[in-house]
Amino acid sequence: MVKKCLFPAAGYGTRFLPATKAMPKEMLPILNKPLIQYGVEEALSAGIDNMAVVTGRGKRAIEDHFDISYELEHQIRGTDKERYLADIRDIIDNCTFSYTRQIEMKGLGHAILTGEPLIGNQPFAVILADDLCYEEKDPILSQMVRMYEKYRCSIVAIEEIDKSQTNKYGIIAGKEIEENLFMVTNMVEKPDPKDAPSNLAIIGRYILTPEIFDILRNTKPGKGGEIQITDALLTQSKTSMVLAYKFKGRRFDCGSIEGFVEATNFFFNLVQSKSIKKKEENLIQN
Ligand code: UTP
Repeated sequence: MVKKCLFPAAGYGTRFLPATKAMPKEMLPILNKPLIQYGVEEALSAGIDNMAVVTGRGKRAIEDHFDISYELEHQIRGTDKERYLADIRDIIDNCTFSYTRQIEMKGLGHAILTGEPLIGNQPFAVILADDLCYEEKDPILSQMVRMYEKYRCSIVAIEEIDKSQTNKYGIIAGKEIEENLFMVTNMVEKPDPKDAPSNLAIIGRYILTPEIFDILRNTKPGKGGEIQITDALLTQSKTSMVLAYKFKGRRFDCGSIEGFVEATNFFFNLVQSKSIKKKEENLIQN
């Protein structure tokens, strides 16, 4: 069904300069794991094992991360440090990665269109790795794949935000057709709070049908002179159903310093509490 996941990762990450001057934003770590690895793990747990990455200049570290490092592995073979590489080895063994480059950064819509040769004519997921999502038992993309299997149309993930923040997001208007699921009737990219049709903001998870590519090809640059996926989805909603899904779980905007620090604290506390729980269980067993 949904077999491929596209990772647009060509953006400049200007909000994180100077850290992102020579390093991809997607490689910034939350604890010891880069953002993009969290995204890949989310896709894998949704049953998707084919990862398509749109990169750009200065992003080669992403390709190296999802590859074997013979020298390093040779060095730590047989030591207890091997466990640190267990998760990434698991990903490399279970996924296929393909890459293409966006030559000019003309916006998210353009990045998605650049990924077309890697996706082909099939529905696909999109993960923006700087939106880090967490739901312990039922990851956000898994929730969305189930929605797709039921409705077979493009779906965007949404979250309620403070109305004062609408100028940072794509905002939808829609008709609730079941709990937490809206049929999109309007979409506006980064509206002023006074012009926003609601406080339902699109976040970095999508499932798109392949018709979106033709629509993107015909979408003129919008807000900020960039080709906006929001504009293309609005066009798609005029001829076929587009859904907006208010997901269960948490999202951290790790493209901003505040969101990044919040995610770091959250995941640190999570790891700490899991390790305390494990120690308590061991004590009870002994
Ligand atoms: P952002 O709006 O977060 O832009 O892009 P950015 O360049 O990454 O970061 P800032 O705002 O300058 O700090 C949203 C997503 O779309 C991708 C980015 O990599 C990010 O995952 N993107 C954006 C592209 O791949 N290409 C583009 O031309 C624009």
